[in-house]
Amino acid sequence: MYLQKRSRILRATPAIRSLVAETILRPTDFITPLFIDEGNGIKTPIASMKDYYRMSIDLTVQEVKELWSLGVKSVLLFVKAADETKDNTGQEAWNPEGLMQRAIKAIRDAVPEMYVMTDVALDPYSIYGHDGIVKDGEIVNDETVEALVKMSVSHARAGAHMVAPSDMMDGRIAAIRNGLEENNFTSTGIMAYSAKYASCFYGPFRDALDSAPGFGDKKTYQMDYANRTEAVKEAAQDVEEGADIVMVKPALSYMDIIRDVKNTVTVPVSAYNISGEYAMVKAAAEKGWIDENKAILEMLTSMKRAGADLIATYFSKDAARLLNG
Ligand code: PBG
Repeated sequence: MYLQKRSRILRATPAIRSLVAETILRPTDFITPLFIDEGNGIKTPIASMKDYYRMSIDLTVQEVKELWSLGVKSVLLFVKAADETKDNTGQEAWNPEGLMQRAIKAIRDAVPEMYVMTDVALDPYSIYGHDGIVKDGEIVNDETVEALVKMSVSHARAGAHMVAPSDMMDGRIAAIRNGLEENNFTSTGIMAYSAKYASCFYGPFRDALDSAPGFGDKKTYQMDYANRTEAVKEAAQDVEEGADIVMVKPALSYMDIIRDVKNTVTVPVSAYNISGEYAMVKAAAEKGWIDENKAILEMLTSMKRAGADLIATYFSKDAARLLNG
């Protein structure tokens, strides 16, 4: 055979493969979601998220130190609000002494360089487990946005570097940006969950925070997974409204969306490798059906290859260890 082109030449040895690799995963690509609980010395396993825990602030701070030492430079905070703080207004979300606000301060004090992002949505504080305020069985948009602005400003005041609205209400990015400007938080960023789909893969997360919707589902605000063009529209709109980073969520079943958004916007794109994606890998590995470490690196590299500049993932500690060798 005389071949003009032999593709296998560039695959022949580990050295040449590494020389031509197009996508290089780094610990600085990761945002680590952390679940925070009241109390001291608390580390509660989450049944559907093997090896992941909900921790009190003191243990969360230790975790943040460890992440920093592994080269992970960003955390995304979620809290499990106490039942007695839940209502239909979300007011605990902007309590200056709330669990989130105390957690932000503790982390900023302990590891000042760590970039702290916070989840902004009412579901952990809602008696209905919905991301917004409920009236006559509906999740009302404009009143919810007012609450989200208060919540964001409160996080900024506590020291958050960036707020991450995950609620999918209309107009919230512009409103939050205005709220931050009015209160002089001119260096606080916004990572918009722009294309967040109504997904069954959020199940384990809702176990972790006890935040499953009490009635109905989230389809009147989260996107229909049948849609692709709409995601691009949402992301472009959020950028116009002032988002610094736009997110696609979930990641694994939405690689086409990640690429479409990446090709459209000129801000960094993040993807959320969500709880159900984590749980599937853990479950299959536990059965011995896949190699967990290899699956982690293949999945995360694929998300970056699809166009994610940043990846929120429960695997960030494992992946950082693997990458650090
Ligand atoms: C709620 C929120 C959810 C997630 C992040 N923020 C769940 C939901 O919308 O019901 C899911 C994260 C995951 O599954 O890992 N605002």
